[in-house]
Amino acid sequence: TRPQAPKPEVNAAVYDSPFLKTLRRESAPHTPVWFMRQAGRYMPEYRALRAGKSMLDCIRTPELAAEITLQPIKAMPLDAAILFNDILTPLPTMGLDLDFVGGVGPVIHNPISSTKDVDMLGVPATAETMPYTAESIRMLVPELNSRGVPLIGFVGAPFTLASYAIEGKGSRNYEKTKRFMYAEPAAWGRLMGKFEALLADYLTEQVKAGASAVQIFDSWVGALSVYDYRTFVKPATGRLIERVKALGVPVIYFGTGATHLMPDMASLGSTVMGADWRLPLDEAWKLIQPDQAIQGNLDPLLLQAPWREVQYQTDRILAEAGGCAGHVFNVGHGILPETNPDMVRRLTEYVHEKTALSRST
Ligand code: CP3
Repeated sequence: TRPQAPKPEVNAAVYDSPFLKTLRRESAPHTPVWFMRQAGRYMPEYRALRAGKSMLDCIRTPELAAEITLQPIKAMPLDAAILFNDILTPLPTMGLDLDFVGGVGPVIHNPISSTKDVDMLGVPATAETMPYTAESIRMLVPELNSRGVPLIGFVGAPFTLASYAIEGKGSRNYEKTKRFMYAEPAAWGRLMGKFEALLADYLTEQVKAGASAVQIFDSWVGALSVYDYRTFVKPATGRLIERVKALGVPVIYFGTGATHLMPDMASLGSTVMGADWRLPLDEAWKLIQPDQAIQGNLDPLLLQAPWREVQYQTDRILAEAGGCAGHVFNVGHGILPETNPDMVRRLTEYVHEKTALSRST
């Protein structure tokens, strides 16, 4: 028998929230809703607060990170908050020089190009290098507890972080990453191991500070074949998921364009699998483990469609979910900056009303 995982202290209203109940596959009064990138440029409140401040400054200032996290929670009845931060925040602590460049996105000025670069990367303790993350969470938790809203902590997965560390920016085909992976498999393994160690420590700090669930974003893993995922990525990612589950919190594992990898990704045993927008939800559900919950999966571009189309496709997704405990409604990738916040609020309210009705009859 396995040792019992320690239960982090959770506020009762948060523990019994529709979101955490659904992750435990208990029935909830309605289907919970949150959105990837729910705090961001589509919100006028966010743009006003960000004006004149850098992304990294906002992330590293707990008052600002906490306020941005709360903006969507105050604007609409979302069932979970996600910490305002970025998956790339840990890279500078390892020695990678990260910048968010307006109109371009993230850039790393000294990307990894040799085995020596891998061995030079540090794996410092989160508590020393990113104390602001736990501090932001501790500032948020009382307000969220009083609203009964759980907080989701997160990290990028080892492959997705390695892809930025090696390419130095976003990429279409991840050619440098794959070249490095094939040419230097031993150094690649050490790189995966460094990310595993740093991310496990980072998530531990987030959970200790009060995150009541965590999501692992493997956004670009779909670039890999099934064979390469199994050979080069699955072992370290699996160990990371194991270590985080041992903290006693639910783990959501999410990738995009990764339908072909779903069975392998799901076999790593996360509590929930994130489904992108490409497959119907019921078909995605067949690809994962029988005890896993599912999160998804409206195409974020639909939030820019007429309401009748949004409503029609939301009904379709809810029907595919079969009114089942174990479905968290979300977009199948992050909300786009061109989205109208009124649409996001209307959709949140609609999913609540529609699923509350069907569950009470
Ligand atoms: O979801 C949330 O509201 C929480 C905050 C959050 C951000 N990034 C804030 C952000 C989360 C969970 C992320 C994750 C993230 N970051 C991912 C995984 C999810 C995904 O989209 O696949 C990735 C790949 C990144 C890397 C990243 N950060 C990119 C590619 C960009 C530039 C593109 C863009 O959308 O601007 C960022 C910047 C970023 N991260 C912004 C925000 C709000 C925009 C910064 C701005 O205000 O200009």
